[in-house]
Amino acid sequence: MHFHKRPSWDKFKDCDVTPEQVFNDRRRILKQMGFVGAGALLSSNANAGIFDLFGDKKDKPQFLRSDLPHSKNTQYDSVLNGVLTPESKVITHNNFYEFGTAKSDPAENAQGFNVEPWKLVVDGLVDNPLTLDYDDLMKLFALEERTHLLRCVEAWSMVIPWIGFPLAALLNKAGVKNKATHVAFETLFEPEQMPGQKSRLMGGGIHYPYVEGLTMAEAMNDLSFLSVGLYGKTLPPQNGAPIRLVVPWKYGFKSIKSIVRIRVTDRQPPTSWNQLASNEYGFYANVNPQVDHPRWSQATERRIGEGGLFSAKRIKTQAFNGYGEQVADLYKGMDLKSDF
Ligand code: MTE
Repeated sequence: MHFHKRPSWDKFKDCDVTPEQVFNDRRRILKQMGFVGAGALLSSNANAGIFDLFGDKKDKPQFLRSDLPHSKNTQYDSVLNGVLTPESKVITHNNFYEFGTAKSDPAENAQGFNVEPWKLVVDGLVDNPLTLDYDDLMKLFALEERTHLLRCVEAWSMVIPWIGFPLAALLNKAGVKNKATHVAFETLFEPEQMPGQKSRLMGGGIHYPYVEGLTMAEAMNDLSFLSVGLYGKTLPPQNGAPIRLVVPWKYGFKSIKSIVRIRVTDRQPPTSWNQLASNEYGFYANVNPQVDHPRWSQATERRIGEGGLFSAKRIKTQAFNGYGEQVADLYKGMDLKSDF
């Protein structure tokens, strides 16, 4: 198998990047996006969103809507141990290797990403296979806002107000057959739109399309969420428009973006980072401060947007990212050191 011994995200590992570099990178993105007052955005207007970045530009993507009707679900808020990560950070500090491996690449390279028409296929071991278009994604399910922690395997984290619906609602609509054991997810494969899929260097060595998977019990847990928006708006392209998974008790790489296929199956599906380096990235990928990555500690994390731009403040990582009460039972009897 062709893979880098050191995945390229290690090279760009956020904790290795100096805050000054981050700062300069962000200034560069904003400049390239035609936003003149970059300094103002970073200081007094720290909550500026993607709409503000585009201003009144004529080429503003039409799918960026702020009218998503939704209720608020605060059921999981007690887990949160910090303030919301400013929207300006959530949409400019991303991992989406289809658009490049640097944190600033997705915001820079994904703005022309076209999500209409979109087709999400739900098939495999289901009674009613589904094909949903872009509008179906927004309209077919009761949308709710939930704030969840996102903990990247690279040891940084964010607190993000997502809008979406439980994955179980979609699976129940399709009707899962009894013998199904797993759910497989696949990202769009369209190299013309996603430059990282054309170049192994730009795409970090991943074999595209990016794929992920969950056990059926994980998929049916209420915490497994399909997100179509954040901060009250439809998802910006760099965050996985038009629909992405959010599994907050697992490392961020499980939260696959821009999904075109959800396949119900009776075996454990392959997953992209596990295919690339199986000794470093397991199938389960539960956040676990007691199991270090072979090349760095998972005991602590850096909360993006907290402690000031040049702060190196770290906080303790929680088992299951703090969601143990909801999910620890799923792993009863398993050795989480070997099943990492
Ligand atoms: N999905 C796809 N298709 N491609 C990716 O490169 N990166 C993953 C995940 N989903 C990735 C992906 C990783 S490593 C993380 S940490 C999260 O997306 C980051 O989500 P965010 O950019 O919205 O914070």
